[in-house]
Order: sequence, then C-alpha cells, then structure tokens
Amino acid sequence: PRDLFAPDRLNSAGIEFGERAALERLLAEVRGAAGPAEAASLIDGTPQAGAARAVTSPFDEGLVVGTVAEASPESADRAVAASLRGFRAWSRTPAAQRAAALERAAAAMEAARGRLIHLLQAEAGKTLDDAQAELREAVDFCRYYAAEGRRLFGADLGLPGPSGESNRLSLRGRGVVVAISPWNFPLAIFVGQVAAALMAGNAVVAKPAEQTPLIAAEAVRLLHRAGIPPAALQLVPGDGAVGARLVAHPRIAGVAFTGSTEVARAINRALAAKDGPIVPLVAETGGINAMLVDATALPEQVADDVVTSAFRSAGQRCSALRLLLVQEDVADRMIRMIAGAARELRLGDPRDPAVQVGPVIDGEAKARLDAHAAAMGREARAHLVGEAPARGSFVAPQIYEIAGPEALREEVFGPILHVARYAAADLDRVLDALEATGYGLTLGLHSRIDATVARVTDRLSTGNVYVNRNMIGAVVGVQPFGGNGLSGTGPKAGGPHYLPRFATEQTVTVNT
Ligand code: SER
Repeated sequence: PRDLFAPDRLNSAGIEFGERAALERLLAEVRGAAGPAEAASLIDGTPQAGAARAVTSPFDEGLVVGTVAEASPESADRAVAASLRGFRAWSRTPAAQRAAALERAAAAMEAARGRLIHLLQAEAGKTLDDAQAELREAVDFCRYYAAEGRRLFGADLGLPGPSGESNRLSLRGRGVVVAISPWNFPLAIFVGQVAAALMAGNAVVAKPAEQTPLIAAEAVRLLHRAGIPPAALQLVPGDGAVGARLVAHPRIAGVAFTGSTEVARAINRALAAKDGPIVPLVAETGGINAMLVDATALPEQVADDVVTSAFRSAGQRCSALRLLLVQEDVADRMIRMIAGAARELRLGDPRDPAVQVGPVIDGEAKARLDAHAAAMGREARAHLVGEAPARGSFVAPQIYEIAGPEALREEVFGPILHVARYAAADLDRVLDALEATGYGLTLGLHSRIDATVARVTDRLSTGNVYVNRNMIGAVVGVQPFGGNGLSGTGPKAGGPHYLPRFATEQTVTVNT
C-alpha cells in the first residue's frame, strides 16, 4: 500500500506498569489529584447557574465525585449564540495558531494526568490501564489534528488552469458545530470531536454525555487555558433534551455525534426537518462486531485476543467483540480455553491497579445487561457465568453459545460474549449473514491462510479489520477508526480524511 501521510509526530507515551517505581508515582499523582469536581454550562468562559445534581461513581453510589449544574434548553440557545459570535474571530485565526493551541492543550493534558485519570476512574469507572490509554488517545487527537490542520488549512492549494488564469482552493470552518459525545470515552471522544471541529476553524458547542460531565468540564478548562478562546468553545452539560435543542437550532452548521444508531437517526431526522442551511452529520455509532476463528488459528493467541476484545473496558467499547464465530472442528477446545482465561479476570474497584474489569456505567446499563443475560440463560448454552459484587453497577464477564449471526439482532454493550460454530464449507454463508446485520464497525479474523484473509476482507467492507490480533484500541493516526452502514457515516476519527468533513471549500479563479 502507499503511505498516505506520515506526520512527523509521535503518539503520546504511557508508563510501563511493570516498572514498580513509575506505577507508584502515577498512583500517588492520581490520589493526590482526587477531590470534588464541578461542571456547569460554560458560555464565553463563564459558568452558568443550573439545576444541581450530584455525580456519583459507577462502582460506588456512595462516592460523590462532584456536582454538575445542568444546562437548560435556554442555555443551549445562548451557547449557540455565543459560538456564532466566537466563530468570526476564530475562523480568521491562522491555522498555525489554532494548531499551536491544540498542541499546548495536549501538553497540558499530559501534565494534568493525575487529575484526569482520577476523574476517568471515579466518574466513568475506568481501570488504570484504560484510563491511561484514554488520556493518551485524547492527547493524540489534539496533536494529530494539529498536524493535519497545518497541512490542510495552512496554505491554499494551487490548481492547474489555462494560461492567464489562477485557481486556488481553500478550506475554512463552516460555522457552529454541535459535538455530542458518549460516556464510554468521556475524555478521548469528547476531546477528539472538539479538537477536529476547532482545528477546521469552527466554533463548537459541546454536549457531553449525561453520565460524564465532570471530565468534560475539566477538559474544556484545559483547552481554554491552552489558548482556545472561550467564545469559540462552549460547554453545555445536560440530557437528551439539551442535545435535541442544539440539533434543532436554525443557525448551526454541523453536528458530530458518537453514540447509538437510534439517536443518530433521530439527529438526522431533526436536521432534515429544520429551517436554515443543510447541515452535515458526522456520526459514529455501534456494531455487532464479530471475530472469525478458523482451524489454523493459534489457540493461545485467540484466547488472549478474545478476552481482551470482549471484556476489556467491561465490553463498553464500540469496537468490542460481541460475536465470536469458531470453526466447528476446533470450537470445543477454543471455547474452553477462552472461558478459562475469562474466568481469571479480576472484577472490582477499578482504582486497584490489579483490577482488569471495572463496572458498567450505571444501574440502567446493568439492568439492561442483566435482563439480556437472563434471556440468554434461558435460550442459550452458558459457557461462563460469574458473580458480580453486590455493590456498584458490576456485570461479570459471561459467554453464551447461540445458533449463528442471525440469533443476535442488536448490539449488547457490555461484558457479554456470544459464540457460534460454523462449518468451513459455510464460510460464505456466515459472511453473508454478517453483512446482513447492516453494521460495519470492527471485524476480527484469526487465520493463517492468506487466501481466507483476502476472501473475508474482500467480501466485507467493515471499517476496522484486525487480523491475528485483538480488535480494540485503535491508535490515532495508525488505525483511523469508524465504520459504515448502521455503524456510522464516516469519515474515520484519527485519520487523514476527517478534518475536511468539518470544513467548507472555496475555489477562487482570477483572470490575471
Ligand atoms: N476507538 C475505540 C477502540 O478502538 C472504540 O471505541 O477501541
């Protein structure tokens, strides 16, 4: 393949948990940075009053992480008005200055790692490993979009034309972009959407998930301090009604959304129904992500990769494995090994660095997952069931055997893995069934036959395909992330085609 663009930049470095001294230092920083947090609507940088709500931790309802003053639909309108004013100056700020502000924000986030990791753990229930990885991803988004922004927005593109005529093409911000982000990556996806829209010259109104306003507020404060003008970035922490109000506003110019397919459809409908300009939507939604394992795969590696893909982050990644398809000849052995490895996972308080699976986000998510597990318990063969701690919203890793892809109609967003067997001769039928789900986010494949790899990747247009490895943890600039069909509109986050979607283009032709 050709190298599209190799930016002169490095991804954010993490710490090696095996190095005891470094781990102790990080833990001390995280403990030292704990303390009550606050979020409120920030309009032109000024916190607004709102109905106060205590934000509690998913692993302990008694732990109050901080307080949020919720935005009202009226404050959403005021945030759009403020961003419309902020857009004028920000869109005229040279791209190099916009990029430099994002780069300062990246460095500030790295420096504030104790506080950010504390909030990722306390508010979103992230394990130390996940919290650290997420912080690195947020930093990477800022640096990557800054590098891409310098390239794309730094100078006009000269185009050929007849003699006596000059032609140039430039990119510029569209206006006010509404960024609606999810609780499962409350820092990385929140910052990624905001950084991309800002880099492209837009002003942003950001609405974080209802469950995770505190980490979003911390990120916005860091971005403002790094030089993003408060008028160019407003925060409105609130529920779905606030998001709906923002999306219906006649003056917005773009929407970035990550969340469920159902909400993406509702946003699309609202955008189509409203007055004003035609507004593009960049949506990244869910998937019924499958992994195919044939008889040539290495069992130990499969076990490790399946456990990581299905259960890391308590299965709360849009990339996570939901449906494992194993060639029947090796299925008994593979499933036994996977269940054995998953049984060893340590579930509990994610602040303990030895814990590998933390809570699910809230009681509602737990109730939904428990109901699904109960149905599976009645209809499917259980290969792994486990006990979850009584306190906190925990769901133990579970594995159920179902008939095939047709038996799983919706994304189950948690640590519940479905497995099915297939006969080698039926591979095409299995691929048809996967395509028929309509989703196309991630796909795993374990096979040492090159022709099988080519057959599967040719047949399916899934956004992110991982061969002979786990299928989560896309790295910015390395595995641009996002799917198609029911999984989203594209373009891929952390990839070279993302920023232009947030911009509008102008061609200027001069008869010289
Ligand atoms: N970007 C994340 C991952 O690749 C998805 O949710 O795991």
